[in-house]
Amino acid sequence: MKRTTTIALTALSAGVVLSAGLTPTFLTSTKQPAHVSAPAAARRASGVTTIVWAAGTISGNGLRQDMVNHFEKLHPTIHVKIVQEPSNTNTTRAQLVSEISGGATSPDVYMGDVIWPGQFGSLHLALPLSQHLSKSFFSRFAPGLVQGASYKGVVYGAPFFQDSGFLYYRKDLLAKAHLPVPRTWQQLMHDSLVLQHKHMVKYGFVWQGASYEGLTCDWMEYLTDAGGQVFNKAGKPVMNSPQAVKALTFMRSLITSGVTPKDVITMQEPQAMTAFNDGQAAFLRNWDYAWTNSQTKGQSKVIGKVGVVPLPTFAGHAGTGYATIGGWNLYVNPHSKHLAADLTFINWMTGVQGQTILATKASEIPTNAAVQRNPQIRKLNPVLSIVSKTHLIARPSQTPQYPAISLAIYSNINAALAGQVSVKQALQTANSQIAQAANKSGL
Ligand code: GLC
Repeated sequence: MKRTTTIALTALSAGVVLSAGLTPTFLTSTKQPAHVSAPAAARRASGVTTIVWAAGTISGNGLRQDMVNHFEKLHPTIHVKIVQEPSNTNTTRAQLVSEISGGATSPDVYMGDVIWPGQFGSLHLALPLSQHLSKSFFSRFAPGLVQGASYKGVVYGAPFFQDSGFLYYRKDLLAKAHLPVPRTWQQLMHDSLVLQHKHMVKYGFVWQGASYEGLTCDWMEYLTDAGGQVFNKAGKPVMNSPQAVKALTFMRSLITSGVTPKDVITMQEPQAMTAFNDGQAAFLRNWDYAWTNSQTKGQSKVIGKVGVVPLPTFAGHAGTGYATIGGWNLYVNPHSKHLAADLTFINWMTGVQGQTILATKASEIPTNAAVQRNPQIRKLNPVLSIVSKTHLIARPSQTPQYPAISLAIYSNINAALAGQVSVKQALQTANSQIAQAANKSGL
């Protein structure tokens, strides 16, 4: 498969000028927004405004800084300082909750998970963007993304990039052993065992099994594919179902069969990625950026040897498996002293030029609908054509209690994967803890 190549911006988006229709109302107005203080305005007039952007590593190839450099060239009066966020979304969340609830004015803008609007909106940890940006600004995104970035009808996040789960595989090894690219979980297990018995690779399949949000994402994929749910239509927790037993029994069997290493129970995205990039595993479940990551010099020993397909399904189901929807929004700290600059930055990062860089320098899924539809970009980014063929599923995150619900899921699933409790016991405990958490939120 071709390597992702950077599209010269001159070819695609030079001369792209943000049209008035896409520009936040207040950016087109000459008046200062009410809450930009006079000293801040004076500072801006006399020089450069520095805003702090807290952001996690996106694809490990310098993408964030590249985007910022382009932005600063167009907006020489704004300097964006990147502050590194941890790679674990739970740690990032805890850090930001503590900083912002303590009144910190920095970071000004932060990259935050798509599952946060319930909690961050209800606790006033994010500026209500829909009160500062016009409706036409939000029309650049698919409506579902805007809805996902909202809580009780208020939009808190500007969708920055979308994530979706994929299966990465070693096409060289499968070809050598005359094995098919797996379309079912059973086939993946079989392929892995053959490759491992032939000593062609150490591990079959690596994924995210640690006790954190990433495991909830992986779990949702097996659970939904097996026909199960966390909540039924009436909002009742139903995770102790036969379908859930099937899903978790299969996950545990990946470990007991040796296809997945035991230490998957401590693996988050970076550890699974490293095992795959080092050539130690035949298969990897990871997000879209893993394509770029596996094809970047200095990071990967498997350049040119990787294929990417939708996640498999249990035998008997037609088509592909399910992929959890992830992704990150740009949120504004409600205590930021640089609102005008913050919104200018968000406008560019989610606009055509910013999103073109995002989707071509890295295999990211852009949130800007026009960029996502662009056939030139689709040709260069192999995950874009796959994502439209995949069944996407959302986590039950539209409640302030989602952190507790997810904790009940991943901590109990992790205990079963570790063999500390039986599959049935883990699901029973998870279900009653989910019920407790959901009751608190009045679900
Ligand atoms: C990715 C996803 C995010 C998810 C996280 C779990 O960063 O974009 O939505 O919560 O992985 O580790």
